[in-house]
Amino acid sequence: PIFSVTARTPTNIAVIKYWGKRDEALILPLNSSLSVTLDPNDLAATTTVAISPAFEEDKLWLNGKEVSISDSVRYQNCLRAVRERAQGIEAGGEKASQEQLRSWRIHVASRNNFPTAAGLASSAAGFACLVFSLAQLLGVTEERPGDLSAIARLGSGSACRSLYGGFVRWNMGQASDGHDSIAEQVAGEEHWPDLRVLVAVVNDRQKDTSSTAGMQQSVRTSPLLLHRAKAVVPERMVAMERAIAARDFQAFGALTMADSNQFHATCLDTSPPIFYMNDASRQVIGLVEQWNAQAGEIKAAYTFDAGPNAVLFCLEADRGALLRRLLYHFPPSDSTPLNEYVESAELLK
Ligand code: DP6
Repeated sequence: PIFSVTARTPTNIAVIKYWGKRDEALILPLNSSLSVTLDPNDLAATTTVAISPAFEEDKLWLNGKEVSISDSVRYQNCLRAVRERAQGIEAGGEKASQEQLRSWRIHVASRNNFPTAAGLASSAAGFACLVFSLAQLLGVTEERPGDLSAIARLGSGSACRSLYGGFVRWNMGQASDGHDSIAEQVAGEEHWPDLRVLVAVVNDRQKDTSSTAGMQQSVRTSPLLLHRAKAVVPERMVAMERAIAARDFQAFGALTMADSNQFHATCLDTSPPIFYMNDASRQVIGLVEQWNAQAGEIKAAYTFDAGPNAVLFCLEADRGALLRRLLYHFPPSDSTPLNEYVESAELLK
């Protein structure tokens, strides 16, 4: 027999950033973080997993290309953790026992519905989808809420937040085995219907420092990082959850921009400094700040991860005006460095 499951998982955008680990192998963070999960029809990973006694070895294909599993400790850790928890399954009149599921080999094929070249958090959606679909395939259920998010965390820290929709907190946890470093939904998909997310894809040919390598460098060299983790983020987490609960866009936007800017300040405080934003990113910041200053209130808020792409939040009433401003500053006919955003313009419908 062959059993298979296909699932789709969206990526998430952190508004309070995770940057820095206290444990590299278990991927335990130095601070908690909070994110918004995008609509699964926008930036998402789709993964098919299959198990069969006919398979000779575990195999993995990413975007149609076979990737060696032995090269990825993180992938192996996720696979092992789900496999250990396998139960029996029954599907289409066929059965597989727990022993069979633990010994049969697994094939995984995963695709992103957006160009990986765009540098948009693909590992978050990818590992979340891998763990979710494997759990379905092997009949794994959570003993405690968040167990699966702790497994996804072993693939990539930010992946743990993609197992839930809406607004999600990743609790840093205290335990050394990581069992309390799990994701938790703070508000559902329907909580804030007029909040809009726009992704502005910035063309960038230069090779980025991966977030994994970048945060290692920051932990080693940035004095600002520890200050941020200990003295800034805990209060911001509380304020951000309050802003979300109250659907307070002024507070949400101010905190989102402040936290993105402090994350990039930490990157600049790293030795050697890391520059994820480029001129186009800074131009987006300029146009948003100028609009907000003119309006005397926050109309839009930007956030940037480990790359130059801008993620913009606004309310539905201001969506048209935001798009017009972007189009004015970055006309599509022009060969500006920012020209792909219209494609993936609207998220979180
Ligand atoms: C800037 O989750 O990609 O996007 O845990 O090493 O895989 P690893 O790092 P990753 O880091 C994400 C960093 C960030 C902020 C965030 O998503 O919170």
